[in-house]
Amino acid sequence: MGKYIIEGGYSLNGEIKVQGSKNAVLPLLAATVLNEGKTYFYNCPKILDVYNMLNILKSIGCVIKWEDDVLIIDSSVITTHVIPEKYVQRMRSSIILLGSVLGRLKNVKISFPGGCSIGTRPIDLHLKALKQMNVDIKDRHGFIECRTNKIIGNKINFDYPSVGATENIMLTAVLSDGITIINNAAKEPEITELQEFLCKMGAKIKGAGTDTITIEGVKKLKTVEYRIMPDRIVAGTYLCAAAATSGEVLLKNVCKNHLISTITKIEEMGCNIKEYDDSILVKTPKRLKSLDLIRTQPYPGFPTDMQAQLMSCLVIARGTSIIAETIFESRFKHVSELVRMGADIIIDGRIAVIKGVPKLNGAEVFAEDLRGGAALILAGLGAEETTIVNNANHILRGYENLDKDLNTLGAKVKYSPD
Ligand code: UD1
Repeated sequence: MGKYIIEGGYSLNGEIKVQGSKNAVLPLLAATVLNEGKTYFYNCPKILDVYNMLNILKSIGCVIKWEDDVLIIDSSVITTHVIPEKYVQRMRSSIILLGSVLGRLKNVKISFPGGCSIGTRPIDLHLKALKQMNVDIKDRHGFIECRTNKIIGNKINFDYPSVGATENIMLTAVLSDGITIINNAAKEPEITELQEFLCKMGAKIKGAGTDTITIEGVKKLKTVEYRIMPDRIVAGTYLCAAAATSGEVLLKNVCKNHLISTITKIEEMGCNIKEYDDSILVKTPKRLKSLDLIRTQPYPGFPTDMQAQLMSCLVIARGTSIIAETIFESRFKHVSELVRMGADIIIDGRIAVIKGVPKLNGAEVFAEDLRGGAALILAGLGAEETTIVNNANHILRGYENLDKDLNTLGAKVKYSPD
């Protein structure tokens, strides 16, 4: 499972480059299935979730090759419509293959992803929309089977702007007959990235980034080369790392427009942010200020994926802060671990009340999910003595070089695979 060992008390200074985006690349990898040819990716993050997705693509017939840092996927031949269960259980976001394999083969069988450590995560919105597109769905023995003779475009009105459901319906509609209009679509930058990628491949899509996305079905896609956008959550994590250690850090390869809600909160904590073309400089005061109330929200609101890392700053801020987690029901699993490190936090349902303490103490703690795990590392950076974060595999799902990047900035973090 691996662990990170952090010797606390070093402030972070210097500059680092931010990796390519996990949540952008996963749907793009799924989308390659729609193309009967090759796709070339630049800036693809080398993280566990990507390797997992590549294993799934291999298992259904894609040929995968890395040439230096360029990832090449040849999806000329897809040999099966069945997605192996072991991978789906390992990575919930493999549900994104529902749309692309269905789009390519008109048939897909995938195991029901079930719950995960941050919540139950149903897929009812995905399935309801597919049914409206002439897809027959059977849910049997823990598997979902989707079949159709023809995907037909339709008007889809989502009850909630789900990121995964929006992506799945976009992927399903690319090679469909007719026009699909998604209302109340998710507006996350990863949706816009998917539109740009698919359009480069020859799809006809517009509206990503707004409430309404329109997809006009096309017959065939073509080979493309594509550079993955920077990871806004990794960038936000590093901004919080600087904030939690009174540091001064320049982040390169960032898209500042994707970070507005995170930067706003970092500034409200008393940090000074300077924005350049594709980099951001953060300067941190000796002690952070508390925040009145933060609510996690769909984009452009404050992201649930940054909630835990922000909390690792607020636990040592001056005053009391409140966080309301509105997206996932079980996303406070890092709280008990932060409390073991001396944090003063009370949870009531989806609300966390955080009374800042002057300093945390190092402790042995356990990561329960990806961002919660990263938050524990941030807490360890500013804590007295040593912190051990167990279950590092959660963190490796999304961070390519967390220990190396932090050490470049002057931290003392060691990764141990044992
Ligand atoms: C994606 C991101 C994840 C991020 C989340 C919210 C990826 C790989 N993952 O997850 O990092 O935290 O967006 O920004 O991109 N829901 C339903 N029914 C559905 C679908 C969703 O009730 O059919 C609920 C979920 O349980 C959750 C909420 O809607 O409470 C948001 O989920 P969604 O936007 O779909 O997130 P994901 O795509 O799973």
